[in-house]
Amino acid sequence: MNNVRKYLKEGDVVQSDIITYHPHVTLLVRKGTVVTEHLLSSLEHFDYDFQKMEIVVSRNGEIVSNGKKETKPEPVQPKEEPRDRTAVTFSEKLKNDAVKAAKQLFAEDMTGRELHSTSSELSHDITDTVLSAGENANICIQDLRVTDEYTYQHSVDVGVLAAQLAKRLGWEEKKVNMTAQSGILHDIGKKHVPLEILNKPGRLTDEEFAVMKLHPVYAYKELSGIREMANEIKLGAFEHHEKINGKGYPRGLSGNEISDIAQVLAIADVYDALTSKRAYKDGMSSARAVGIMSEMMDGFNQKYFAVFLNCITLYPVGSHVICTDGFSYKVESHNPGYPSKPVLLNEFTGRRINLCETRDLTIFGEDCEEIRNKLNLNK
Ligand SMILES: [Fe+2]
Repeated sequence: MNNVRKYLKEGDVVQSDIITYHPHVTLLVRKGTVVTEHLLSSLEHFDYDFQKMEIVVSRNGEIVSNGKKETKPEPVQPKEEPRDRTAVTFSEKLKNDAVKAAKQLFAEDMTGRELHSTSSELSHDITDTVLSAGENANICIQDLRVTDEYTYQHSVDVGVLAAQLAKRLGWEEKKVNMTAQSGILHDIGKKHVPLEILNKPGRLTDEEFAVMKLHPVYAYKELSGIREMANEIKLGAFEHHEKINGKGYPRGLSGNEISDIAQVLAIADVYDALTSKRAYKDGMSSARAVGIMSEMMDGFNQKYFAVFLNCITLYPVGSHVICTDGFSYKVESHNPGYPSKPVLLNEFTGRRINLCETRDLTIFGEDCEEIRNKLNLNK
């Protein structure tokens, strides 16, 4: 018989997952479980030492942690979500105006001059916001989105993400601005792709994909007629699907044959596409998208990708992560310049941990089914 009855009593409500690490990480009792006699006798069959586990329960209206009553009667719940001062923030007006402007760009009757002036105005607004944010302020993509209309939102997102990466690469303001404008216009050629191909939820046939692959060519054709627009902006749109390993399209360029603005756009484009919600798929979390992009590394400029990882908020404030101790924590705030080392809160014990101040704990991943399964936390 083990010592489970010393720490768990019938009627207790478990306040955080009870996990054992020996012989391997196993979730024994999920948070929210009401302890029954049946559960106690099942747990008695195992050779576990419950003294070594973190066991927090509510018992008769009090919080009891590893058999001892806590001085705080209630679990700590911050009343207000702390504000993330390390994020680039866009006003609601700017976000809405940006999407409206992007919609105009895709209108059939836009002249070249209008295309340039509208996208240039928007790129200046984006550049001003990105450059005036703190040196280490990151982009939280979920905070940017105002609409589900993918094409327009995607144009704005890519403009913003590309400007942010250009800033962190140390490019001068004029080039940051050109990068933003090129990002806003990168998919303008999709205007000429039939809607049934553009909005097809399933896989494209070879023929359909061949048509889709023409959109950077259409973009270049349309933009090349605009005399007042810098060539770098046009090339960004023309080459945003080229890959460093030469496996991209339309020309199969490789390495430095691809313009640096296009190399930035390629990263922003894929990241935004993966994290966007579409009619046929949910948007991925930032952490998951970055994981997938890491497997496509030879297609991207690796130096740019490494900088990009420091440009975005991987774990948004308010989201939950699982740490190497197997526990779930809420992300409370960020440390400027250290996006993977935020301040975490154990919501049930009220314990705060600043990952910049501890060497013992790191984030294993976001708190999701996939990570829980990987860690055996659901068995
Ligand atoms: Fe594209």
